[in-house]
Order: sequence, then structure tokens, then C-alpha cells
Amino acid sequence: MIGTADTGNTSVAASLTPLQRRLAEVAAHPEHSWTMLLENVPVWPTRPPVDDLGRAAETAALYYPGSFGDPELLTALAYRERTAGRLAVAEDHLLVTHGGLHAAGLVFRELSARGVRRLVCQTPLLGSIADLALASGLDVKPVSTELLIGDDGPRAVAEALLPSTSAVYLNSPHNPTGHVLAADRIAELLALAEERGCHLVLDAVYDDFDFTAAVPAGAPLEPSPSLVVLNSFSKNYGAPGLRIGWLCADPVLLARLAVRLEYEVIAVSGPGQRLATRLLAHGNEGLRQTVRDGRAAVARWWEELTGGRLAGFSGGTQAWLPLPGVTDDELFADRLMRDHGIVAVTSHSYVGDRGAHLRLPVGLPLPVLEPALHRLGRALRATYSLLPSDDQGV
Ligand SMILES: Cc1ncc(COP(=O)(O)O)c(C=O)c1O
Repeated sequence: MIGTADTGNTSVAASLTPLQRRLAEVAAHPEHSWTMLLENVPVWPTRPPVDDLGRAAETAALYYPGSFGDPELLTALAYRERTAGRLAVAEDHLLVTHGGLHAAGLVFRELSARGVRRLVCQTPLLGSIADLALASGLDVKPVSTELLIGDDGPRAVAEALLPSTSAVYLNSPHNPTGHVLAADRIAELLALAEERGCHLVLDAVYDDFDFTAAVPAGAPLEPSPSLVVLNSFSKNYGAPGLRIGWLCADPVLLARLAVRLEYEVIAVSGPGQRLATRLLAHGNEGLRQTVRDGRAAVARWWEELTGGRLAGFSGGTQAWLPLPGVTDDELFADRLMRDHGIVAVTSHSYVGDRGAHLRLPVGLPLPVLEPALHRLGRALRATYSLLPSDDQGV
């Protein structure tokens, strides 16, 4: 049966996430030609030339790196943040982490230890971020992206904040909808957080995929004791296996996070940090071009399929496809897998979504993406007859 790989242990299968179940199913049946639409990271069209580290990586493996990060990487990250109008930070505002989720976990646990009890979150919210917040002792209070970007956004956030025991979590460009929050809206919410004595955590792991401007502007904010920006090599540099991310925050908060990082993992992989420094120097234009091409292909495909346009599709590396008429999105995804060999992620992996959706990666090279779109289009059209009519305004 789809979604329950033969592990010989049903309780193992039952406790896996839907995504893990599907991956186990794929691994158990390599004889099938699966169409994999799972990625939420962009994929390099050709491998970036950064893997000739040789002795530098070997040497880095023989010592503990500093708990704030490798000095060369910190310098390169400070430069990245200062250019293109991002945060004007120096090295002392940076902490290297084991990826974006580790960065979020460090911050959530620290906030919780300080008595914060509520995280006001932009939704749809990636389920693993919600789980991490809950496991850190924070209640998740959802505020929809639609509400957040509208005139009532700041009021909605203000009403959701408990005085001094809350924090705000924003994600821009947003996973999964692709919405890019306007810089002045983020600044407005930061001012609100400052006024209330709260932290604002900005998850900027897709900030090089802001297609609302010719040059991605990130969040052109001034450093503030209330502001924490988290970022990662997984998405912006297409290197999820590297497990390197970073935090930009006030040095006083970072010092506490570095102590936490030290007693949890001592330090972040030295060879990984060397590779990350190379990747930063190489840049990510090839990856951004792949995402631009993928977005154009997906927009064309969706228009041909439905006659409609995807709302809020202005950044990020995925499209959020509405599935009108679907009540059980996981059953739908299981059928897509069983009947069409298409392996995909749905709104089930998110908290606070309205209506069923399918998440489509747009950062795949065209030779991979286009045949996949063709198969998905055929499956949506022929089997499920769920295409939205014009008045459903996709
Ligand atoms: C919105 C968002 N934040 C953070 C992360 C964490 O990324 P990583 O831990 O791979 O750096 C992800 C990964 O899917 C994400 O989508």
C-alpha cells in the first residue's frame, strides 16, 4: 500500500511524517520511475566548482572551530549581509549554525528560557517550524499571510502579542506561497516588536529568491536588539546537505546563543564551513537563473492548464497550487503517487493553511521540471478533474 513502506514494523511506518513515508516507499521500490516533486530547495543545473578543498578541509576537521564560526566564513557572511542593501552587520552580529532549523531551534529555546510563551507566526507555517516552536515550549499563534500583507496586518499582529511574553516569526520570501513581504511592512512589525519588548524572528532562508526587484534586496533593516534574522546555505546556495546556516542578531543575544550552541553541539563542522566560504565566493547566480527559468515555466504551465494565474508568486523556490474540491490532501497525494508515480508534498505539511494545496518545486533545471509538469498536468486533468474554474481566481 502506498505510504507504508515495508519496514517490517508497522509502528515505525505509523510514526513517520507523510514525507518520510513517501520517501521510504520510493526507496523500497526503485524499480518504479518516480516523478519527484518533493524538493523545497533549488537544484544547481551544473555542480558549482567548490569541492577541491583537499588539505584545507582535512585540517579543519582536526580542530574544533570557534563556537561563533570560522573567522573567514564570518567575514564573508558579514560582507554578504552588507551588500545588496541587507542588514548592515559586522562579524560580531553573526553566529554560524548547523543550518536554518538549528538556528530557529536555538532562538526558540533561548526565548522560551527567558519566559516567552507565544510565537505569533505567519501562516501557512512549515510543520517542522511549528513542531520546533511547540517542542521549545512556545504556543503557535497563527496570522495568515493574506492578513499580514493587508492594511490590517500590524493590528492583527499587535492583537496577537501577549505583552513581553511573545515573539513574532515571519518568513520572506515565504515557504510555500512565495509571498515577499514589503520591506516597510517588516520594518513596521519590527517597530511594533521593539515597542512591546518582543523579538521579531525573520526567516530569510530564501532571500536571494526575491523576484520583486531586479536585485534581491533582502530585508534592508538596521540591526536592533529585537531583531533576529536566520539564514541558510540550504536554499540560497542550493546546499542542504552542507547543514550550514547563520543568525544575524544583537551581540548580547548571540553570546547567549553561542553558549547554548557550545553545550549542545560544541561547534559547527569546520570542513562544512570551509565549503560554505567557497560557495559564498562562487555566488549563486546559476542557481537564481534556474529558479527564474523554472518560475516562468510553471507560470506558463499553470495558465495553460487552468487559464488562471498563481497568486502571490513573487519569490521563493516553490509554487503553491490550489486543489479546489479536495478535502483530504494526503489521500490525494497518496493517489498521485499510486496512480501516477508523482511524489509530492501537500498543505498537510503546513500549519494554518486554508484549503488543500500541492507544493511544487520551481527551482529544478528545465530538463527535469518540464517533463514533470507535463506528467502532473496530465494527472490533474485526467484523473481528478479538479481544475479550478475561472471564478475561483487562482
Ligand atoms: C522556511 C524555512 N525555514 C528554515 C528551513 C530550514 O532549512 P535548513 O535547516 O535546511 O537550513 C526551511 C527548510 O525547509 C524552510 O523552508
